[in-house]
Amino acid sequence: MKVSTLSAVSLVAISTVAAANCGKGRTAASGTCCVWYNVLDDIQANLFEGGICGEDAHDALRLSFHDAIGYSPALTRQGKFGGGGADGSLIAFASTELTYASNEGLDDIVHDEKRFADKWGVSYGDIVQFAAAVSVRNCAGGPRIPFLAGRPNATRAAPDGLVPHAADSVGKMLGRVGDAGLSGEELVDLMAAHSIGVQEHVDPTIEGMPFDSTPEIFDTNFYLETLLRGTLWPGSGPHPGQAESPFRGQFRLQSDAALARDPRTACHWQSFVHDQPRMQTRFAAAMAKMALLGHAPAALRALHDCSEVIPASTLPAPRAARIPAGRGVVLEDKCPGGGGGGNGGGKGGKGGQFLKGLWDFMYGFCPLIRSGADESAYQRRQAVKASYIKL
Ligand code: HEM
Repeated sequence: MKVSTLSAVSLVAISTVAAANCGKGRTAASGTCCVWYNVLDDIQANLFEGGICGEDAHDALRLSFHDAIGYSPALTRQGKFGGGGADGSLIAFASTELTYASNEGLDDIVHDEKRFADKWGVSYGDIVQFAAAVSVRNCAGGPRIPFLAGRPNATRAAPDGLVPHAADSVGKMLGRVGDAGLSGEELVDLMAAHSIGVQEHVDPTIEGMPFDSTPEIFDTNFYLETLLRGTLWPGSGPHPGQAESPFRGQFRLQSDAALARDPRTACHWQSFVHDQPRMQTRFAAAMAKMALLGHAPAALRALHDCSEVIPASTLPAPRAARIPAGRGVVLEDKCPGGGGGGNGGGKGGKGGQFLKGLWDFMYGFCPLIRSGADESAYQRRQAVKASYIKL
C-alpha cells in the first residue's frame, strides 16, 4: 500500500498502547507521547515566544514542507537516491541542505529545532512535524493537525531540486508534488500555510512583507486576496518568483497567483474563500499526509499517535474573508464555468459558486467598490455585503 492511499483518519488510528499519566494533569494514549508535553512547554516558552503566531512559528511551518517534500520516487526509479521525505534530513544534514537555494532563510529554525530535539532525545523528523503542528495552533484559526511520533532519523541528505520554486509553472509544481505523493488539490490545501506567511528573500528590500492582509491569522483572506488583480510591484521588483500585488504592503508569489488562476486548481482554490471550516479540515488532513511522506507502511505502523499533545486553541475564530476596506479591486476568476462576470454555471463547482456571489455583488450592486472612489459608501454597504456574501 502506498502512503498516498492512506487516509488521514486511518493514519491517526495507528496508535494502540494504553493511556498514560504524563504529570501536570496531562494524559496520553501512549507513555511514549509524554515527552512531547515537555517539548511542547519548552518550544512554546523558548522558541515561539510564549506561544505566538510570529516569525518562528511561520518558519517552523515552512520547514515542515521543505523537509517532507524532499522525497522523489521518480529519482529512485532512475537508480538515484530520492530523499527520505519527512525524516528531519534538513536538520541532520543541515550542512548540506541549508546550502540549497530553496532553503534560504531556514538556518535559524533548523538550528533551534535541533537544539530542542537533542535536549529531549526526540528524532529530527518528529520535531520538524511537531513544531509545525504547534505553530499552526498558535495562530488564530489554525486547526489541530494530527501528530504521529517515532520517525527514525534520516540517513542521507535529500537531493537538491525537490522543493518547488515560486517561478515554477503550475504543471511543474503539480508534477513535483505528484511525484512525492500529493495531489494538486492537496497542494492547494497546503497553500493555506501562506495565509500566515511573509517573504524575506524574494525581495530583500521589503523583508517581512506578508502574503495577505492578516499574516498572524490562519484565515481565508489569503485565498481571496490572491484572486485580486495585481497592479504594482512593491519594493524593488519584479524578481523571479514574484507576481504583481494588488496593494502596497502585500507581496504576491508567482506560484500562488498561478495556482489561483490555473484551470486545474482555480476552482479548488476558490472553494476556500468563504469556507474557513473547509480550509481548516483540508489543511489538517493534507499536513497529516505530508508529515508521513517517504515512510513505508511498515514504518508507519510503528508510529504512535500523540495528537492529544497538540494544544487546543484558545484564540478567537477569524472573521470571514473580506477585501481590505476602501480598495479599488478587480477579482480574477479563472474557475472554468465558475463565477467570473456573473455568467457562472455548474462546472465551477463549489468554488465558482462562492466566488460568483462575491463577483455579482461587486459588479452588479456596488460599482463604487470597483472604482474605489468612495470609501464611505463602501463602508455603508458593509451590512448589505454581509448578508449577500456571508461576510
Ligand atoms: C508550490 C509550493 C510552494 C512554493 C513555491 C513556496 C514558496 C515560498 C516562498 C518563495 C516563500 C518566501 C520565502 C522567503 O522569502 O523567505 C515562502 C514562504 C512560506 N512558505 Fe511556502 N511555498 C510553497 C508551499 C508551501 C507549503 C506547502 C507550506 C507549508 C505547508 C509553506 C509554508 C510557507 C510559510 C509558512 C512561509 C512564510 C515563512 C515566513 O513567514 O518566514 N509553503 N514560500
